[in-house]
Amino acid sequence: MAPASGQSVPASEAALGPRHVAVIMDGNGRWAKARGLPRTLGHRAGVNALKRTVEAAPKLGIECLTVFGFSTENWRRPVAEVSELMGLVRAYVESDLERLTREGVRLRILGRREGLPADIAAVVERAEARTANNDRFLLQVAFNYGARADVVDAARRFAQAVKNGEQEPDQLDESTFGSLLCTAGGPPLDVLVRTSGERRISNFLLWEAAYAELVFQDVLWPDYGVEHLQQAVNEFRSRERRFGGIGVHDVLAAG
Ligand code: IPE
Ligand code: IPE
Ligand code: MG
Repeated sequence: MAPASGQSVPASEAALGPRHVAVIMDGNGRWAKARGLPRTLGHRAGVNALKRTVEAAPKLGIECLTVFGFSTENWRRPVAEVSELMGLVRAYVESDLERLTREGVRLRILGRREGLPADIAAVVERAEARTANNDRFLLQVAFNYGARADVVDAARRFAQAVKNGEQEPDQLDESTFGSLLCTAGGPPLDVLVRTSGERRISNFLLWEAAYAELVFQDVLWPDYGVEHLQQAVNEFRSRERRFGGIGVHDVLAAG
């Protein structure tokens, strides 16, 4: 896959992976607090970090970037902060949709549509429709997303199909279940990054992260740049993924 920028990535580098990187973009509030600024300005600076990351990812051979923008639990925040976050999605799409479209980026919003204000749902749908045929890079923004909610929604859909006589309970396997999640169709998740020094998953991609490499970086999200993404990629490349088997050196030693 060619990067969205048109700059070529050496095939050997892209082959090392990761293909799919997910990021829990955390630390906007602390970044603002450290500067004596309101949290909203931290979120605005976070959008600039997102733009830098989207630009850098294809140059590192990444095919798909999934970012956590708003969780089903973030509704617990003050009303003004929630409405700022909603407004930022809208502003991001409005400012970047044309460029993303030109650069061959497909934009997909993960999460429950019901519950989103009607104007935001409309913006999201327009962006998805506009970029639906792009295939150079997949940008997934999880918004009003919670992994448990997604698993519950998938289970409900399957139960309904059984009730309608379209499926049998024993037809459900891991692959069918995965295809009912909102991430269906994307590449398997290779790395899950969390910024800001927190070391938890906070209800992000629970199913998809089963064999992802976890990378925790101490940088606050608004300070995130290409060097941090490169570090996460290097960290991924230094790991040995076993998927429950034995390491490659052990296989060689075993003959
Ligand atoms: C991440 O930054 C952005 C969202 C959760 C929307 P936070 O707002 O969680 O920042 P901290 O964790 O308070 O520093
Ligand atoms: C996770 O961060 C959600 C997003 C980054 C959108 P939070 O800041 O909401 O997570 P907790 O509350 O620290 O677990
Ligand atoms: Mg946080």
